[in-house]
Amino acid sequence: MPSDRRHLGQRFITVEGIEGVGKSTNMAFISAWLEERGQRVTVTREPGGTPGAEAIRRLVLETDRDQIPDQSELLLMFAARAAHLQTLILPALEAGDFVLCDRFTDASYAYQGYGRGLSLEAIEVLETLVQGALRPQLTVLLDGSFELSVARRADRTETDRFEQEQLAFFERVRAGYLAIAAEHPGRVKRVAAEQSLVDVQKDIALVLTTSYPELS
Ligand code: TMP
Repeated sequence: MPSDRRHLGQRFITVEGIEGVGKSTNMAFISAWLEERGQRVTVTREPGGTPGAEAIRRLVLETDRDQIPDQSELLLMFAARAAHLQTLILPALEAGDFVLCDRFTDASYAYQGYGRGLSLEAIEVLETLVQGALRPQLTVLLDGSFELSVARRADRTETDRFEQEQLAFFERVRAGYLAIAAEHPGRVKRVAAEQSLVDVQKDIALVLTTSYPELS
């Protein structure tokens, strides 16, 4: 991928956080906020978002961990991302849409890097290989504790390979996200997920207004 696509990232927004912090509800809020301001929005998710990448998602999330070691998991996340970028994200950005993505490369740093302990430098190499200079303009990090996550997930019956992980893993992932936010304060905006939904969405609206003053 040519590396001159940096400018396309201006309309690229990602939402991150551990499971159960309210990503889906707040993705819908962000999408509606943009649409109310006359913007076309392509809403998508990772791993997945296109038929090819969704096939990789099923493979990685539904296969036993001992059959897909950590390094394979990382490579599959980027394999899915490469397909998603070429087939959906880049064409949508080139057409002038906003792209709103439920998780992206920060999740690889947080889960495979900080969570599994794989090399952050290796992840950076894959990031550059697959994305060139493209990065999201804005990342909303919904930050909440593992206890909140467990409480919100209590009514789900089926669990995937990540949902079966234990407290220590999610604490590393959460700390990883906070480290990423500290490293990229201009791009990554932390929103406290433990507030009421009304307050979470007030904070998100403020972040959107600050990041896109031309839309406010
Ligand atoms: P989801 O449940 O939010 O759809 O995400 C599926 C799981 O995939 C979630 O537990 C986080 C994990 N994941 C990674 O480990 N690395 C990645 O790069 C991405 C995008 C997701």
